[in-house]
Amino acid sequence: MKIAVTGKGGVGKTTVSAILARLYSQQGRRVLAIDADPDANLAAAIGFPESEVAKIQPLSTLTSLIEERTGARPGAGGGFFKINPSVDDVAERFGVRFENILLLALGTPKPGGSGCYCPENTFIKALVTHLLLRQDEVLILDMEAGIEHLGRGTAKAVNALLVVVEPGHRSLQTAKDIRRLAFEIGISQIFLVANKVRHSKDRDFIVSQLPDFELIGSLPFDWELVEADAQGRSPFPACRAVVGEIEKIKLFLDSRLAING
Ligand SMILES: Nc1ncnc2c1ncn2[C@@H]1O[C@H](COP(=O)(O)OP(=O)(O)OP(=O)(O)O)[C@@H](O)[C@H]1O
Ligand SMILES: [Mg+2]
Repeated sequence: MKIAVTGKGGVGKTTVSAILARLYSQQGRRVLAIDADPDANLAAAIGFPESEVAKIQPLSTLTSLIEERTGARPGAGGGFFKINPSVDDVAERFGVRFENILLLALGTPKPGGSGCYCPENTFIKALVTHLLLRQDEVLILDMEAGIEHLGRGTAKAVNALLVVVEPGHRSLQTAKDIRRLAFEIGISQIFLVANKVRHSKDRDFIVSQLPDFELIGSLPFDWELVEADAQGRSPFPACRAVVGEIEKIKLFLDSRLAING
């Protein structure tokens, strides 16, 4: 099960990713949580103890490892490097653990995005491809507002691309752009999650603006969640209203995946 979560900045991607990770973990599944946001905060949202959060090493900062694997030192400029570096051991070596969750932070991509041809981005891209093809675990990828970390080669491995939106034109436009890009690279399982919904009008507005999307969840605006975030606490399990809705999303994904086999 490979779930990628995207959407405009601030819509709730990390909240959704974190709660899904906890739900799968509590079910006894092995979870690989990947924080692809340079401003990494997935571990805290999941509820990792601070001592573990402090151990996180964003992969893009591991200059020596990247040099060892690609044959070129990041930032050195020019020269040749391997475009298929060995990455099999990276998750186990550099991931941090909590419950059944192994978490990796990818760090900051070089300017030009992951399409840029340099040792760091090549290393990260090879790693994400490798992780998407691993079996027997639930992978949850918390991305920025886009799908740069996914490419044609990995699109098929993504079972579900969750696009999170909130009531408001900007996040809806981002959702449309993401959907187009996702189709272009061959991701077909694209689902919409409405967040910060205050009343049925918000939900109706989103549905009317995005008629081509399949809406699989509608999460209420929740002051508990605002409070938890302000205090640096995980929304899981305290924010019952939102957690309850994400449980339903999980059930939907589980059954949809089972059907598609
Ligand atoms: N349903 C909700 N009700 C109230 N507040 C929410 C809800 N969902 C998310 N928030 C709040 O909105 C803010 C952004 O949420 P979150 O960090 O999950 O979004 P994000 O899409 O990951 O943001 P970024 O683009 O910065 O990574 C946080 O302060 C979070 O607590
Ligand atoms: Mg986030």
